[in-house]
Amino acid sequence: MKYAAILTAVAALAQQGLATSVSGTPVGFAASATGGGSAAAVTPTSTTELVSYLGDDEARVIVLTQTFDFTGTEGTTTATGCAPWGTASGCQLAINADDWCDNYESSAPSVSVTYDNAGTLGITVNSNKSLIGVGTSGVIKGKGLRMVSGVSNIIIQNIAVTDINPEYVWGGDAITLDDADLVWIDHVTTARIGRQHYVLGTSADNRVSITNNYIDGESEYSATCDNHHYWNVYLDGSSDKVTFSGNYLYKTSGRAPKVQDNTYLHIYNNYWNDNSGHAFEIGSGGYVLAEGNYFEDVDTVLETDSFEGALFSSDSASSTCSSYIGRSCVANTNGGDLTGTSTTVLSDLADDSLPTPSAASTDPATSAGQGNL
Ligand SMILES: *[C@@H]1O[C@H](CO)[C@@H](O)[C@H](O)[C@H]1NC(C)=O
Repeated sequence: MKYAAILTAVAALAQQGLATSVSGTPVGFAASATGGGSAAAVTPTSTTELVSYLGDDEARVIVLTQTFDFTGTEGTTTATGCAPWGTASGCQLAINADDWCDNYESSAPSVSVTYDNAGTLGITVNSNKSLIGVGTSGVIKGKGLRMVSGVSNIIIQNIAVTDINPEYVWGGDAITLDDADLVWIDHVTTARIGRQHYVLGTSADNRVSITNNYIDGESEYSATCDNHHYWNVYLDGSSDKVTFSGNYLYKTSGRAPKVQDNTYLHIYNNYWNDNSGHAFEIGSGGYVLAEGNYFEDVDTVLETDSFEGALFSSDSASSTCSSYIGRSCVANTNGGDLTGTSTTVLSDLADDSLPTPSAASTDPATSAGQGNL
């Protein structure tokens, strides 16, 4: 872009009163993330340029003002997959990634699957980046974002990540972290994803804040064959501290979230609406403090059969918390089986200056996601 054209573009954005910098500051474990800091904003205009800005070694503020559609950019693959939940039109099929279909053996009929290659692996995001969308214009379609291999200090705000092979399990994840630190994801909308909306892999993800995001689980294809997405938020790790607050989880049916393997989760002020299966699955090594959350029309708030972690959570305010974190814990609303009295969780988080939640509410239905900064 010529200098004059850049000036015109920036002036146009300024005129509309639209941000070309990060709005607000992170709360929770990633509070010290600064992303691209005060680097001059760049506005990519092609998928190639976006990939280059995200993956290079410069600190960058990357402003999105258009849709980046990766569908078709890497071709398609036709292969034999399987149908673990049957072949009815509302059911997800599965790509046989790493022989995953073997888990189902004879119970899952083989089927032909044709998927978009771009969806199966996200765009690499390097350290010291802010990725921000203007209004509701910044959309990444057909490919997710991947923060792995030791990256740190990344802010992603006010974008949408959509349409990643939604027909197929293993079709792709929206937001992946694995061996990362200081990542803040805020006001992001994810919709129509093949696998996970958010996945933190088995390596340490250290300090992460996932705030005010809209996890839209409504899909034509689902593992529960009922238009409710099953694969939503998978928090694995080896030394992870995750703040998850202000998020809206709509039309999900499982793993919302699944937490395990030395992962601490402070989960507060979120709103779940219309979940046809389970919300929480807490495995061994999952340490969860859940407070000020609101559950509405959720079939099973906590999967009790597989519960092997540590949980502090209640539908009543608890003064037990005061001696550990200096304040009472805030009551959840309609938490059902999500009750726990583990003071291990509280004592392990005692030095972390946890944010203080508001009362549980349905506010995230209108305040979460892209366009609601
Ligand atoms: C990120 O920025 C910090 C502070 O300027 C710098 O020390 C670090 O090397 C940068 N990281 C990368 C991978 O560029």
